[in-house]
Amino acid sequence: MSPAHIVGWGKYVPEQVLTNADLAQRIDTSHEWIIARTGVSERRIAAEGETTSSMAIQASWAALAEAGASPAELDLIIVATATPDYIFPATACLVQDALGATHAAAFDLSAGCTGFVYALGVAADMISAKDRPGSTGAALVIGAETLSRITDWTDRATCVLFGDGAGAVVLRRDESEGGVLSTVLGADGSGGDLLSMPAGGSAEPCSHRTVSERRHFIRMRGREVFRFAARAMPEATQRALEQADLTVGDLALLIPHQANERILDAAARALNLPTELVYSNVARYGNTSAASIPIALCEAVEEGLVQRDDVIVCVGFGAGLTWGATAVRWSVPLPGRPPSPWRTLRYRLLQAYAMARSFALRALRYIFSRGLGE
Ligand code: UT7
Repeated sequence: MSPAHIVGWGKYVPEQVLTNADLAQRIDTSHEWIIARTGVSERRIAAEGETTSSMAIQASWAALAEAGASPAELDLIIVATATPDYIFPATACLVQDALGATHAAAFDLSAGCTGFVYALGVAADMISAKDRPGSTGAALVIGAETLSRITDWTDRATCVLFGDGAGAVVLRRDESEGGVLSTVLGADGSGGDLLSMPAGGSAEPCSHRTVSERRHFIRMRGREVFRFAARAMPEATQRALEQADLTVGDLALLIPHQANERILDAAARALNLPTELVYSNVARYGNTSAASIPIALCEAVEEGLVQRDDVIVCVGFGAGLTWGATAVRWSVPLPGRPPSPWRTLRYRLLQAYAMARSFALRALRYIFSRGLGE
């Protein structure tokens, strides 16, 4: 086994900003309440036509460009999401097609807000195994969500929390030291009803009743989720560090799921970590579920808060219930390569190629199926 290293990172957030003041005009809430209870000041909302896959694709191109990787190198694409474009096909397959990732296996992973940590652990293990035939040892791991489409905008207890966006990392197998050191994952399905979208699956298929009873939206028992999170995040962080033979003292930065500033503060207190070592951008984006950790990681790197040889832990909790943490020794020199006209041109050409390839495949399939029908 050789370690998997994070060699590229990228994010995409929609342009449209929804502030607390905007929400206070629609529902019975206030900026003061939202800030005091959650720390969220504003969130991004996908425009009409933007989808989980379209945001994932943007974040993926950014991550590939940062890694200097081409889509054809990828072995594997995992999209962690609770808001896929469709129940099937997988959003990861839409991303695979849009990137022209001709050699990649692609699947979605559902683990609520812990999805990105789960996906990172699965991908790191898969590409670390050197003896997989045909493996190039590169994976794209994405967290992407369009939560605004499953948010009940009449429910003030939940709608103030969530936002849309996507983050992605490129993982590459490499003999060098560092990379993903350990991953701890857990689940407790007995708490599944604390945070769920009741209808739309095979248990409660879409019907007039499910729509009129607003069962296609997020339902949450906030206080119980809060209590679970305040316990699960520090425990998972400790265990991931222990598995890597490290302690909290070795930690350069904790990158937690951005659920609520109070939960981040509680985790910092439980771990005895100064709050400066707990990354937070929850004020700007709210809770973007599986997208929150990769977006936060990307911004932490861009802000120069992560340096080569630093130990970071990404930790999440969410629907399922699920939790997970992964310890990473950052192995890429920073800042990354500055953008150059050649790099921009290379990725424009790769994007044009991917679009042309997808169009040609669809056209051939259409022509072939018409031919068979005659
Ligand atoms: O990715 C995982 C996703 N989930 C989470 O991370 C959620 C974890 N939980 C939380 O973040 C918090 O529980 C919330 C932010 C959701 C709620 O905060 P809280 O301190 O637990 O408030 P609460 O639910 O106990 O409600 C307190 C009061 C209630 O009024 P009464 O019954 O005391 O009169 C609510 O009706 O606040 C009221 N309230 C609001 N007031 C103004 C609830 N939502 C709002 C609102 N604006 N948006």
